[in-house]
Amino acid sequence: MQNFLGIICFQGHASAAALIRDGVITDACIEDRFTRNKQDTAFPQQAVQSILDRHHLRITDISHAAFAWSPRKSLAGQARQLLQLGLPPPEYFLNARQHHGGLSRVDKFLRMARVGREFERFFGACPPLAFVPNHVAHSYSAALATPHSGTLLSVVADGSGEDAAISCFEVRGGRHRQVASTPIPHSFGILYSAVTQALGFVPDSDEYKVMGLSSYGGPVPDPQLSAALDRVVEVRDGRLHLDLRYFQLHRSADRFFTDDLLKLLNLDGTTPTFAARARIARCLQDLLERRMAELIEQVVAHMPHKPNALCTSGGVFLNCLLNESLRRRFQASDSHVHFEHFHFSPIADDNGTALGAAAWAHHQQTQKWPAPYANLALGPAYSAAEMETALRQADDCVWRQLTDHALEVAQELAAGRVVAYYQGRAEFGPRALGSRSILADPRPADMKERMNAKVKLREAFRPYAPSVLAERADAYFAMPSAEALPYMIETVHARPQHAAEIPSVVHNDGTSRVQTVSRDQNPGFHDVLAAFERLTGVPVLLNTSFNLDGQPIVNSPRDAVDCFVNSDIDVLVMGPYLIEKKMECQEVAA
Ligand SMILES: [Fe+2]
Repeated sequence: MQNFLGIICFQGHASAAALIRDGVITDACIEDRFTRNKQDTAFPQQAVQSILDRHHLRITDISHAAFAWSPRKSLAGQARQLLQLGLPPPEYFLNARQHHGGLSRVDKFLRMARVGREFERFFGACPPLAFVPNHVAHSYSAALATPHSGTLLSVVADGSGEDAAISCFEVRGGRHRQVASTPIPHSFGILYSAVTQALGFVPDSDEYKVMGLSSYGGPVPDPQLSAALDRVVEVRDGRLHLDLRYFQLHRSADRFFTDDLLKLLNLDGTTPTFAARARIARCLQDLLERRMAELIEQVVAHMPHKPNALCTSGGVFLNCLLNESLRRRFQASDSHVHFEHFHFSPIADDNGTALGAAAWAHHQQTQKWPAPYANLALGPAYSAAEMETALRQADDCVWRQLTDHALEVAQELAAGRVVAYYQGRAEFGPRALGSRSILADPRPADMKERMNAKVKLREAFRPYAPSVLAERADAYFAMPSAEALPYMIETVHARPQHAAEIPSVVHNDGTSRVQTVSRDQNPGFHDVLAAFERLTGVPVLLNTSFNLDGQPIVNSPRDAVDCFVNSDIDVLVMGPYLIEKKMECQEVAA
């Protein structure tokens, strides 16, 4: 049996491992779920160990390992940047950077180049190891899950790979070939992060907040501000060009923008008002959507085989408004660039490259692509006995076994209680999709505020996402034709006649970051949604990740119980058990 292990670490916010066994994706998990250190970038020792344990493997049973970063390519990219843009100050290389997991550029490079030693240190041996360019690994992670015939265009955009910030690949007849590339530092990721930082948010972290804010920035972008921003970013010959008078990450350790960008945005360095932030966010989002579409159109114009499918990956494509805009633009039959199939990869960030690297190694060795994953429940699972052990260690909980699981969970939800829902294997990727979720009734107008204030402790403007029965999705949301959207990676518009029924999961611009739930992909969660519909007439639940703000999503039963008792979540449903807090039960009994 051939075992292909992919890993990523020391990069971005990611550390993850994935396994492909004889052409089947069997496992993928993120290290921070084990270490409880959010966005841990350390070598994924626990993730790899859990994968080996699950299959009773030793490290010597791994046929090929692949690391989703190429130090050699990185060195070449830095050298080219240096020649073109001049020598940056020493702190550029030597200062620890938050978005490199606290490592300096030099440390990061050395740790990556010696990743084989980490295998030896933790496992006593290193399997045959290859270094895969980061964007190639991204592209494989998206392309493997894109059903298509003909030609697929795979677009990768992130902060930066080793030497490129945007890469485009053609996938045709099973072959994977680069067709365009934008060199660092000309990056959509850096553009978005720079404005995020200029607005007083944390760059490389809070971009999703800026995206959420953009819908408060008016029905159309401010024309003056838009015109000013337009000059900063251009697309020529299928490449992005940033005006580097406004950006400085290529010579600074941690400041993405220059004072010129502040002036351009009419900012004075103090935190702007909500309205000013929203207006800028609206223009930025619009700029990203327009420039990305231009870039794709220009790349397609130079492809000899016109692609009929588009897939995307890289952190920039976690922006679900961008994804919706690309689908809207390129599914129109009168558009001169037209795609029949779209796949916005739900594992777009660097964690996903662990799976992409494993797929690349599999493809190199067998000349075949692995089978696409059926769902993202690829992480660790725990037995009922392990859940009981965790529950016995918590004195402030009472629990009972459910007899009619779906109905009883739905009854709790319909009664307005917030339910932490912990079932089966953990999800791979940033989203909770019904395995490690917090669920609530989307109907009460105050449910969003209640979740914000009591459970998530996050900003009031940030929206929550709905899970909906796949077969009922089109009644509630304007779904793209014949497509399921199982991964909360693009937005759709709620149908006006139903939007008022589910106010907690419809953003102020009328959109929702929807998850369709089918019986095939997630039968247990599907049953809960169906039971909720039988009780209430509404086939929709609010679904957010099972964690407190600033913590990784829960992993083990012990994490689940700890998170439950330290929050205001009303009920925990873990495996076959329904758990409540002792005090609340006693108060109810009294
Ligand atoms: Fe990346």
